[in-house]
Amino acid sequence: MRKPIIAGNWKMNKTPAEAAALVNELKPLVADAQCDVVVCVPAVDIAAAVDAAAGSNIKVGAQNVHWAKSGAYTGELSADMLVAAGVEYVVIGHSERRQYFGETDRTVNQRVLAAVNAGLKAILCVGEMKEVREAGATDGLVDFQTIMALNGLTAEQVQDVIIAYEPVWAIGTGLTATDEQANETIGVIRKAIARKYGQECADKVRIQYGGSMNPKNVKGLMAQPEIDGGLIGGASLKAADFSLVVNYDK
Ligand code: 13P
Repeated sequence: MRKPIIAGNWKMNKTPAEAAALVNELKPLVADAQCDVVVCVPAVDIAAAVDAAAGSNIKVGAQNVHWAKSGAYTGELSADMLVAAGVEYVVIGHSERRQYFGETDRTVNQRVLAAVNAGLKAILCVGEMKEVREAGATDGLVDFQTIMALNGLTAEQVQDVIIAYEPVWAIGTGLTATDEQANETIGVIRKAIARKYGQECADKVRIQYGGSMNPKNVKGLMAQPEIDGGLIGGASLKAADFSLVVNYDK
């Protein structure tokens, strides 16, 4: 019922020339994908990635967006700028931004509102740190992060938001949540959406897993009923690996 979506998050990797080369290498490898395919690239790579992806099934995403229309926000990019550059998706609230750049649930919410109102598809990241899981507080945290981030959107808008559940302890560590852990916490996120926006809306929202997802573990994760895709870091930087993740069903 929900079309799976596999997105690469390149983080701070690749020059424009390398971005074009990677997208060009990916194109034939993912041309028959049954899922939506997205690459979320550094801002300076957007033009090169959009050009290289033109006419293919690969969509380009950004890794952040500011909430204001324009103004004195040195170093920031508006949603309208991203749309004009050919971007369709934007990662918002990644744990690295929350950890290292002072991102809060309030600023995440402002960014989500700006992105969605400009017609971008938000990939909203939520997820717990190791201490939170160990304290048994994961469910409450992801519920809170999700509800706060979506505050102010209508149910109709929420159903097009993509949520990425990324346990912080699984990012870049080689540790993956077990298939069942990921499925269970994604179920908690879906329940939170159902409580506030209705079951029909919650049933439409695509929720990805992210955190050391790779060609080896993708099949097991994607076999879980609640998991609708992946947000892939390290394994999205090589065409061979990323295409194996995208083609998990082949
Ligand atoms: P890794 O796949 O490198 O663990 O990164 C996951 C991630 O943070 C994607 O946004």
